[in-house]
Amino acid sequence: MEYTQLGNTGTAVTEISFGTWRFGRETDDGYEVDKQQAHKLLDAYADAGGNFIDTADVYGGGLSEEWIGDWLAGRDREDFVIASKVYWPTREDDPNGRGLSRKHIRRQIDGILDRLGTEYVDLLYIHRWDDATPTTELMRTLDGLVRAGKVNHLGTSTMEPNAWRIAQANEIAKREGYEPFTVAQPRYSLVTKEVEYDYTDALAEYDVGMCPWSPLGGGFLSGKYTRDEIPAGTRGAESDRFEDRYLTEENFDVLDEVRAVADEEDASPVQVAIAWLLEQPTMTAPIIGARTVDQLEENLGATDMDLSEQQVERLSEAKDAPSLV
Ligand SMILES: NC(=O)c1ccc[n+]([C@@H]2O[C@H](COP(=O)([O-])OP(=O)(O)OC[C@H]3O[C@@H](n4cnc5c(N)ncnc54)[C@H](OP(=O)(O)O)[C@@H]3O)[C@@H](O)[C@H]2O)c1
Repeated sequence: MEYTQLGNTGTAVTEISFGTWRFGRETDDGYEVDKQQAHKLLDAYADAGGNFIDTADVYGGGLSEEWIGDWLAGRDREDFVIASKVYWPTREDDPNGRGLSRKHIRRQIDGILDRLGTEYVDLLYIHRWDDATPTTELMRTLDGLVRAGKVNHLGTSTMEPNAWRIAQANEIAKREGYEPFTVAQPRYSLVTKEVEYDYTDALAEYDVGMCPWSPLGGGFLSGKYTRDEIPAGTRGAESDRFEDRYLTEENFDVLDEVRAVADEEDASPVQVAIAWLLEQPTMTAPIIGARTVDQLEENLGATDMDLSEQQVERLSEAKDAPSLV
């Protein structure tokens, strides 16, 4: 895997980040990814040269961070760039146990560092926007974490298509001398294209890098779903939203094009889908979410691909950003 810069910062990250959303996630049959499997996945990612790990305070109710922390204890923490996130409720009946108020962020950062067993995170994302917190309060609070040495860089998550919020926050940061957002984490793939309105243009204008989530549309772009069948044991079989979100005729047409390019390149559809993302403007590193080591190794194979300009264009044209009118 090659290195790239984390947005416009001096920090080097591998071109593929590994996401740990499913670590410690409870299902009827136990954890979707249990601690042993989580450590196997992290070992496989690190052995392949990966250094960029994505988690959040709420993943697995904190278990994702905790298990990463246990794993990091057996490694050199300095070899890794660790990203976490804050926003979602962490104390159900507490109005201050959620959002981006100074009170919640300050409480959360200490929990994050404690679970990860580290003195700092390389990147802290705001997981969603919080209308209740003034932008100046937010940027001053986040800047305070950077000055205190608890956080190195700042990111936003899932704000598309509202790029103006990133623009406004970074203008405030510039005016006040605060740390700006340097990375954005939108949902983006060949089948989810809201960022293509003017969001990517705004990231380019503000020199903000992109780490897209669900680069495979939650597994849809692997090709294992057909027009007639949702395979058992997959995310699609378990999630109510999956069918509406991904299993549309338009998306199956995209998949046909992905398969055609995969055949030309003797690659798999997931590799083509990730390789296409690697060619998109402002890209820092897609965050892949494999559940097994086989999936992970297949997905990392995308870094060996070299799509032609014409293949990238064909794939891009398979689906437009949805119409706003
Ligand atoms: N900021 C946010 O709000 C946000 C939201 C979501 C995710 N994220 C981050 O982004 C990461 C990735 O998101 P994601 O899990 O949705 O990504 P994804 O890569 O689109 O989907 C991953 C899922 O696809 C299936 N899959 C992966 N590789 C496969 C392969 N080679 N063959 C067949 N199936 C395969 C697996 O599910 P099955 O085996 O169950 O089918 C896997 O769990 C998360 O871990 C998290 O760190 C952030």
